[in-house]
Amino acid sequence: LSVAVLISGTGSNLRALLDAAAEPGFPARIVAVGADRDAEGLAHATHFGIPTFTVPFRAFATREEWGEALAGRLREVGADLVVLSGLMRLLPAPLVDEFAPRLINTHPAFLPEFPGAHGVRDALAAGVDETGASVIIVDSGVDSGPILAQERVPVLPGDDEETLHDRIKPVERRLLIDVVRRVADGSLDLESPAR
Ligand code: GRF
Repeated sequence: LSVAVLISGTGSNLRALLDAAAEPGFPARIVAVGADRDAEGLAHATHFGIPTFTVPFRAFATREEWGEALAGRLREVGADLVVLSGLMRLLPAPLVDEFAPRLINTHPAFLPEFPGAHGVRDALAAGVDETGASVIIVDSGVDSGPILAQERVPVLPGDDEETLHDRIKPVERRLLIDVVRRVADGSLDLESPAR
């Protein structure tokens, strides 16, 4: 299974996926990594000799034009699966319609709790004693697509956004790698993701 990954930031989850895909016998290979900016995480792909591309959001007049350019690059790559791993942009509906359901996203909360760009901060602000990590199929909403995998993560006294996010990310990575593995080995059918 060929996989394209999109990021915006440090790409720690991408790095975990790259490490997993480098293991002999992992049934998927990362064929390209893209970003909506000069993301530092692109260096992880370069380290593995994997092609990278950027479609800078600020280079386009509208979100729609950015989305069209990004869709074009993804079409060129022609991956079987597109993984959003820390992409901090909402994708325009035409791109979602073109690539879903073979378009998945990780989110650092127990969806449908705390969707959106600040899931970790929002969980802290809500004072909950547990949050989580989720892997979903992207739909045209905000973190509202079908849930493929999710797991609870405790919020500990004294947590701040960084310590909580650092506890969530390893869970997120494990769930993401497992979902990619299951899509690749056919045990998870994204067309009918009965969880
Ligand atoms: C991840 O927790 C992702 O779910 C969220 O932002 C974080 C990105 O971290 N959207 P990284 O870029 O993978 O280190």
